[in-house]
Amino acid sequence: MVEVIVGGGVVGLSVAWRLARAGRPVTVVDPDPAGGASHAAAGMLAPVSEVTYTEEPLLRLGLASLRRWPAFAAELAADAGLPEGAHGVDLRAEGTLDVAFGADDLAALDELAAFMDKLGLPVERLTGRECRRLEPMLAPSVRGGLLAAGDAWVDPRRVTAALLTALERRHVPLVRARVTGLLREDDPEGPAAGLLREGGPAGRVTGVRLEGGAELAATTVVLAAGAWSAALAGVPVRPVKGQILRLRSPQPLLTRCVRGSVHGSPVYLVPRGDGELVVGATQEELGFDTRVTAGGLYELLRDARELVPGVTELELADVVAGLRPGTPDNVPIVGPAGDGLVLATGHHRGGVLLAPLTAALVAGEAGGEEGGLAALCSPARFGEIA
Ligand code: GLY
Repeated sequence: MVEVIVGGGVVGLSVAWRLARAGRPVTVVDPDPAGGASHAAAGMLAPVSEVTYTEEPLLRLGLASLRRWPAFAAELAADAGLPEGAHGVDLRAEGTLDVAFGADDLAALDELAAFMDKLGLPVERLTGRECRRLEPMLAPSVRGGLLAAGDAWVDPRRVTAALLTALERRHVPLVRARVTGLLREDDPEGPAAGLLREGGPAGRVTGVRLEGGAELAATTVVLAAGAWSAALAGVPVRPVKGQILRLRSPQPLLTRCVRGSVHGSPVYLVPRGDGELVVGATQEELGFDTRVTAGGLYELLRDARELVPGVTELELADVVAGLRPGTPDNVPIVGPAGDGLVLATGHHRGGVLLAPLTAALVAGEAGGEEGGLAALCSPARFGEIA
């Protein structure tokens, strides 16, 4: 029998790959592998510049996972047979420049700088002129910035493609089907009533039911179904829509990630080695709505143009909306949740960043101080879990 990974996004595929590398028999199930939120994601590995007040646990997880990224990328490239090595997933580490547009944005940036200082984070406060010296395409109106030199980024589409290749090379089966429910020992007819149900623990998970009724038996099910996880087990995960667009430029416009606030409205620009510039992302609570809207794209382009006027000259290459799996505290839900079930979901804005650490935790590769981080994302924090 095998371990079944439900979900072929960056988290599910990373978990499957680490388990397969350890010699464990796994099967991945997903109707659209490498689609969904992983296809939309910009790929920022930015625990420092994404830090927000009250989210220190997320920061600790993000920093630990960022440390894992270089080795993860190199091993993945080797396993997938990428001739370019780690560059094959476009891992870059030139940092993030967080810039302010209006006086209000500058005041908020100053407050954020003080908060980061208190946390001991390595950021450098820059004037507008210093920001433009680093990134000459920034608008003259940019008033100041914060450089998080340790932040990095990667191309998630290359990462998931490499993961699929690596899994194929290890003969890991990929079942292209939708999972409609978990099979449980005490409830063979229906999907799990919910992990967080009242009245005692649910029975041991023994596999999954697929659309059409077929069943797949498993020693363990790893639930990595992102925003769809709540429908399969009663975990507190909700979809948070993000619209994002990709522009194409003959020459890279930026050398590092630029994020900024334009009168309180956040936007980020992520440059790729091939000249692509990713501009994201909206954050909307609209359920399972993946429509790309004129208003969403307008706001992104409006704010991006205020920070980097040259973006309007670029070719519009791609627009997409993805669903982040949000949790009540913005921290992922990773770890055992009863007999036969492991959760690896709820990564919200940090799926790409947190994939290496999540995979290590699930595969039992994280020890010492890193292993201690497991408590921060444990399912148990949401109460009694079967
Ligand atoms: N991590 C960026 C986003 O979710 O938009």
